[in-house]
Amino acid sequence: MKKPTTITLAVLLAAISAALFSPLTGAETAGVQSLRTEDVAAPDQAPEDKPYVGKTPGEQEKIARTYEQQPPLIPHKIDGYRIDFKKNRCLECHDRPFYKEEKSPKIGDSHYRDREGKKLKHIWMGRYDCTQCHVPQVDAKPLVENTFRSVPVKAAKGK
Ligand code: HEC
Ligand code: HEC
Repeated sequence: MKKPTTITLAVLLAAISAALFSPLTGAETAGVQSLRTEDVAAPDQAPEDKPYVGKTPGEQEKIARTYEQQPPLIPHKIDGYRIDFKKNRCLECHDRPFYKEEKSPKIGDSHYRDREGKKLKHIWMGRYDCTQCHVPQVDAKPLVENTFRSVPVKAAKGK
């Protein structure tokens, strides 16, 4: 291949990749605004930290589920309940060996299967970090409008 052709090709390739990978243009981002607005000196709009609501486990009702396969919401407080490599306080109440004595809802069978569906004697490590899916509650207004509507509660109820 002659030199000028190579250069032309290189320029063409550069132009194509620039068009493909360029950041969003002004037209595409128009109307999108960060919570802090475009004024970087504006005060932080983030709402203040709120404490989690809920009392000691055992003192409240479960929260109705709003769709099938929803990880049930945590109705009780979880302050000080450690989940780390050495200890998982949640398991000490909800795991198979303890739930009866602790009068706690039993962790579902799904949590004792691995990704391939193989049954395990203990909880699968992919389910170890409980609060990744199960969340405690806060008394706060939603940050943005949410039009989600629950399915009929009866259909969504857990076992
Ligand atoms: C001292 C025992 C205890 C500990 C520790 C505990 N729980 Fe609970 N949990 C309960 C009890 C009892 C309930 C039933 C509702 C109630 O009384 O608060 C419950 C309810 C729940 C529910 C709702 C279940 C359903 O079917 O609606 C979830 C989810 C849950 N806990 C997750 C957790 C997670 C995650 C942790 C750790 C951060 C945790 N729990 C720590 C005892 C405990
Ligand atoms: C990857 C997401 C995920 C993680 C991590 C997880 N769960 Fe769940 N959990 C779910 C979903 C989804 C359900 C509802 C469907 C089901 O039972 O599988 C559920 C159900 C439950 C239930 C109710 C079971 C029933 O039969 O009604 C309890 C109690 C529970 N989880 C406790 C825990 C605890 C304690 C941990 C941490 C050791 C944990 N989960 C980790 C997703 C998760």
